[in-house]
Amino acid sequence: MVSRRCMQMKNSKKCLPILLCIGTVIVFYGMFQCSNSPKSYMIPRESVKYVYDDKNIAIPYDQNSPLIFIGGMPRSGTTLMRVMMDAHPDVRCGEETRVIPRILGMRNHWQKSEIERKRLIEAGINDAVIDSAVSAFILEIIAKHGDAAPRLCNKDPFTLKSSQYLSTLFPNAKFILMIRDGRAVIHSVISRKVTISGFDLKNPKMCLEKWNSAMEVMYAQCLRVGPLKCMPVYYEQLALHPDLWMHRILEFVDLPWNNSVLHHEDFIGKPGGASLSKTEKSTDQVIKPVNIEALSKWVGFYSEDIIENMAKIAPMLQTLGYDPNKNPPDYGKPDPKVSDNTMHIKQNMEYWRQKEQEILAKEKKAGHRQPPPPPI
Ligand code: A3P
Repeated sequence: MVSRRCMQMKNSKKCLPILLCIGTVIVFYGMFQCSNSPKSYMIPRESVKYVYDDKNIAIPYDQNSPLIFIGGMPRSGTTLMRVMMDAHPDVRCGEETRVIPRILGMRNHWQKSEIERKRLIEAGINDAVIDSAVSAFILEIIAKHGDAAPRLCNKDPFTLKSSQYLSTLFPNAKFILMIRDGRAVIHSVISRKVTISGFDLKNPKMCLEKWNSAMEVMYAQCLRVGPLKCMPVYYEQLALHPDLWMHRILEFVDLPWNNSVLHHEDFIGKPGGASLSKTEKSTDQVIKPVNIEALSKWVGFYSEDIIENMAKIAPMLQTLGYDPNKNPPDYGKPDPKVSDNTMHIKQNMEYWRQKEQEILAKEKKAGHRQPPPPPI
């Protein structure tokens, strides 16, 4: 308005200082704006995307999808939990993606390192930009690394270290935290030579301490997210009473009851069932029906001085309700079906070994399923 009036003035020389002033203000304002936030915003063309099932029916997914995240310390029954969920006709979890906990770890590093954070902000990469990129990455990996399904699920044990962050990215997600007696977890890690970064497999005491700190973080995250979003599930209780626990779990994730979840072994390697990875260490165990072979195998594994100091080495045992001085504690009595399964497995070792070979060969032949391209 000022400039228009100025133009209307007869003597344009008088205008010059006014115009200069306005120009300077605009330039400085622009510079200030540039250094803090972008001038314009990119909006993705479609915020809801689709995966297509085997009948080419489009299933929409976005940040608000009710994703299911399963995690916990590796060797806590996380694979068993996910194949039981995979057996449900509405759910697909699939193999560990490995990249999801890594991107979460990277984002954690960017947050914690003050120098890095400053550099990123200087480059316009603020929290909102990182969050939208990280959530898009996670969502695409979950949606596209396996078959389409109405309920998408992810099992990467250490993702549950970031439940709180994930619940801000995915407000309708639910979390299942697998908990297992740390003594059994570390016995499994060491005896099966499961490599986990930071764990020295020659040092059981140090591994128990590492279990303790990982569980401290994951349990605290679960409590912070709250009982409506995060459910702690004890491996021992799931193995002893699968019927009761799967009823509770399906109710927690708002899924209708389906008996298939109690017979996951029938759905392994089948279309719409549970696909297994040749490289995951639990594959030969999850092909079996739910059993209690693994519950107390750790007894006799630890040296006397570790046993005596167990409560101090791994205080989370007590926090989580395990008696650190009982070797083993009384985990409870199995359901009759679980006792039958366990006996059947013991009597037919060779059958299960062959079955494992068959399933892995079949999966290899089928190749890793690529999701079909969307219809044009
Ligand atoms: P052990 O190594 O002590 O045998 P994760 O998948 O989180 O790594 O957990 C692996 C543990 O789950 C293994 O413990 C394995 O025995 C147990 N598990 C896998 N399938 C099972 C099944 N069908 N019934 C009971 N436990 C099972």
